[in-house]
Amino acid sequence: MSAQIISGREIAEQIRAELTERVTELQGEGIRPGLATVLVGEDPASQMYVGMKNKAAAKMGIHSRQITLPSDTSEDELLGVVAGLNADPEIHGILVQLPLPDQIDEGKVIEAIHPSKDVDGFHPMSVGRLATDSGDFFAPCTPAGVIEMLVRSGHDPSGKHVVVVGRSNLVGRPLASLLLRKGRGGNATVTVCHSRTTNLADVTRTADILVVAMGRPETITADMVRPGTVVIDVGTNRVDDETSDKGYRVCGDVLFDEVKDVAAAISPVPGGVGPMTITMLLSNTVKSAVASAANTTG
Ligand code: GUN
Repeated sequence: MSAQIISGREIAEQIRAELTERVTELQGEGIRPGLATVLVGEDPASQMYVGMKNKAAAKMGIHSRQITLPSDTSEDELLGVVAGLNADPEIHGILVQLPLPDQIDEGKVIEAIHPSKDVDGFHPMSVGRLATDSGDFFAPCTPAGVIEMLVRSGHDPSGKHVVVVGRSNLVGRPLASLLLRKGRGGNATVTVCHSRTTNLADVTRTADILVVAMGRPETITADMVRPGTVVIDVGTNRVDDETSDKGYRVCGDVLFDEVKDVAAAISPVPGGVGPMTITMLLSNTVKSAVASAANTTG
């Protein structure tokens, strides 16, 4: 039996349609969400990601501003740019694309972004509020996208045993916190595995829902998945492929062709979690604009 395919592409389109409607409504109320992206240097992958974020924002009617700085920008200069954006009433979300050049301390820059505009959800205040399930915060976009995919495809994590493979600050840790929350998409029993986990397969086989974010191509094989498991693959890896015109192909951390015959449902790569990340960034920006309007009028 072949698994249900959880298409991040389709779910992302659905959410973007909902957000576009909301942005139009907000315009009627005189509110225009604004997103600023800051790119330091000329890394081609970062240029591509930032371009995609701005294009998606503009398509939805979100005001988007891209600030591009040279690779030798000093930490103080960048902190000055962030301070300007913090004070700018047209901007509700600030995203400084990572990684930053070596002369800049990433932690300092992340902490300089005002938590009310931290649409990436990387500020220690956002991280702390998520971890303690308290107050208002922006959830980091990739894990928030995983939760939306599960809920919208009919696999609510509530009461389920979710095994997360990977403990990164970008995905594994915040995802575990989101799954533990008492709210929508939460209330799961969570196990986090990592590179030092002994007998990984023994743990992954206990999952009702298995989320893999380990950054190692096609590592999760069918024997590591119990029949009937829901599998979300967060990995995006380039592997050499002489049969492709490009000389490479993109694959996940899960061996899709094998695991799809065991799992109840599975997300593909590409077309899985990837399209959700930008969508959740736009969702956070809209949420921030609404919160900001409530604060200025309330
Ligand atoms: N670099 C790779 N992914 C991300 C992301 O989600 N946000 C930022 N700011 N930089 C990144």
